[in-house]
Amino acid sequence: MRQTWAALLAAALSTASLALSPASPQAAARVAPVDVRLALTPPMGWNGWNAFACEVDERVIQETADKLATSGLRSAGYDYVNLDDCWMSPERDAAGDLVPDPVRFPHGLRALSDYLHARGLKLGIYESAGVGTCAGYPGSLGHEQQDANSFAAWGVDYLKYDNCRNQGVPARQRYQAMSDALAATGRPIVYGICNWGLEDVAQWGSTMAHLWRTTTDIVPTYEQMLANFHDNVNLADGASPGAWNDPDMLEIGNGLTAEEARTHFSLWATMAAPLIAGTDLRTASPETLAVLGNTEVIAVDQDRLGKQGRPVRMDGGLDVLAKPLADGSTAVTLVNETDRAATVSTTAADVGLRAAARYTVRDLWKHSSGTSTGTIAASLPAHGSAMFRVTPQ
Ligand code: GLA
Repeated sequence: MRQTWAALLAAALSTASLALSPASPQAAARVAPVDVRLALTPPMGWNGWNAFACEVDERVIQETADKLATSGLRSAGYDYVNLDDCWMSPERDAAGDLVPDPVRFPHGLRALSDYLHARGLKLGIYESAGVGTCAGYPGSLGHEQQDANSFAAWGVDYLKYDNCRNQGVPARQRYQAMSDALAATGRPIVYGICNWGLEDVAQWGSTMAHLWRTTTDIVPTYEQMLANFHDNVNLADGASPGAWNDPDMLEIGNGLTAEEARTHFSLWATMAAPLIAGTDLRTASPETLAVLGNTEVIAVDQDRLGKQGRPVRMDGGLDVLAKPLADGSTAVTLVNETDRAATVSTTAADVGLRAAARYTVRDLWKHSSGTSTGTIAASLPAHGSAMFRVTPQ
């Protein structure tokens, strides 16, 4: 009888594995569950792409790390410092290993991660699930384990895995291969899928990764920021601790007006998006650092309940969004997308708060508190927004 059970169990397990990945039973045997503990709240940090594109070197990374520490942003939660495309040499070495660009990273990436780790920061890296990166450097398709081993040996803590030059191989297969390879290194590495929201990634991203891009690339215009918001805002069902929709990195400091920058940050925090600063922090204005460093807004993004905010109403460019928070309060974000001043208004009942005689309304940008019997409203300039934390008394 015992043998029979063992045989049945073995058969069941092998069927389960095959069902996960019909293409390769060997690979399927290694499918590892995602360790959600690595990203119980949305990742925060910095990435060089929006501000520097390919022009990042170890000096920029070190100076950015120093600025994260001295500006207070590290204490506010920004702890990943992420390389994007172009960190490597155009060719693999004789052993087939990826090689960091020797001019821009003369001390190699282990020295870079040591520098960051010594300062309480972490290193992120970029690759593509294709035969090349978008900028034409060697890709990881077919080299997943070898490259994951390099990342682990260099002390990498986060991988953004892009979608260029993918040869038409289905995304699930390509992204699962790297997920398995990262797990096999034994090093905890946050894994971000960057396939631009294609192939229904929001349906399956959480089975293999901690975050997944849901949109095309952001650029520093108000219109594109709103487009990414619109593409991401209805995907709230898919977000939970360890599993985040990613509407792309922040453009705060890259030319948006002060109103637009606050709206961008409020929307990303309300959507529990990763908060990855994308500006040159070394030269950032006090206003930019103040937006990125608003700890009351950050607390909404990082709330441990891990709910992505939902639209209560989006009507003619006037939006009401609500994000339930762990302490029983709700973050309420009011947005005027339009080019004219407008008043946006909602009620405690409409945003899902329990009935109460009074509510405490904390303004997360003015840093002041008031009370309300239920109405939550703000008159907003063009492109402006307001963000409140509303608590039943
Ligand atoms: C793609 C990604 C961007 C960036 C570039 C780098 O476009 O979506 O975020 O990484 O590649 O080449």
